[in-house]
Amino acid sequence: MKVTVVGAGAVGASCAEYIAIKDFASEVVLLDIKEGFAEGKAMDLMQTASLNGFDTKITGVTSDYSKTAGSDICVITSGIPRKPGMTREELIGINAGIVKDVSSNLVKHSPDTIIIVVSNPMDTMAYLVHKTSGLPKNRIIGMGGALDSARFKYRLAEALGAPISDVDGMVIGGHSDTGMVPLTRLATRNSVPVSKFISEERLNQVKEDTKVGGATLTKLLGTSAWYAPGAAVSALVQAIACDQKKMFPCSVMLDGQYGLKDICIGAPVILGRNGVEEIVEIELNDAEKAHIQESAAGVRKTNDLLEL
Ligand code: LAC
Repeated sequence: MKVTVVGAGAVGASCAEYIAIKDFASEVVLLDIKEGFAEGKAMDLMQTASLNGFDTKITGVTSDYSKTAGSDICVITSGIPRKPGMTREELIGINAGIVKDVSSNLVKHSPDTIIIVVSNPMDTMAYLVHKTSGLPKNRIIGMGGALDSARFKYRLAEALGAPISDVDGMVIGGHSDTGMVPLTRLATRNSVPVSKFISEERLNQVKEDTKVGGATLTKLLGTSAWYAPGAAVSALVQAIACDQKKMFPCSVMLDGQYGLKDICIGAPVILGRNGVEEIVEIELNDAEKAHIQESAAGVRKTNDLLEL
């Protein structure tokens, strides 16, 4: 199993680290345009191998896509991250050109690859890869929902005073401050609806804190977060590589599901060796349906800025 991660910044390096530490891939290639940067990160990470007990070989390369040839899975983290006060949508001008170039270089050398898109605005970048790469739609996955759901579970556990392992929940919709739809109605503590334990007001607070999860960290860190994004990517890569048939909300091309067509937005999917093996349609109530339509309208507005 060969995995390429493009972009050796904080998110890309965290992806490579978490993938390697789980020890299911034979090789991770880290690629960056900054001379020597990916090589340095790869060497540093390889020097953790004996300490952390993994055998995955991590190689760093500067812009040499020939070294990515034959990758089963490619992760695109390239582009600029947001600064405090910025929305993910504001990054489109710079990131669209980068993501288009990167995906075409990847597909040239790995025509059978599955691509995971992390660069923001993520739903629109995933849509761009669908429109320009020529890959079938089951092989293009936007990472947002897995991260947003992890942040939702963190906030739920905090509100419940419960361990995170007791909590389950999912965020669908767009990966943006207004577009996320945290499904509080379906969230559970060990199979019991969380509304049994916390007030509606507290639950609304959890929802709002989840939606601005990335923005809160950007304000604290001065740049976009990396540990949870890296961990979320590694969970998706592992589900595909190990054919786990695990369910995650991911940004996928919809074709009528949730009343939406020709849009990439977060929906629950089953991930296995073929990438997106199934899009799961869950029963939403009227408020959730309205929220997902509103979220889709926001994503379409950003998609309209693409020069396709
Ligand atoms: C975040 C970025 C990765 O939410 O979109 O932290």
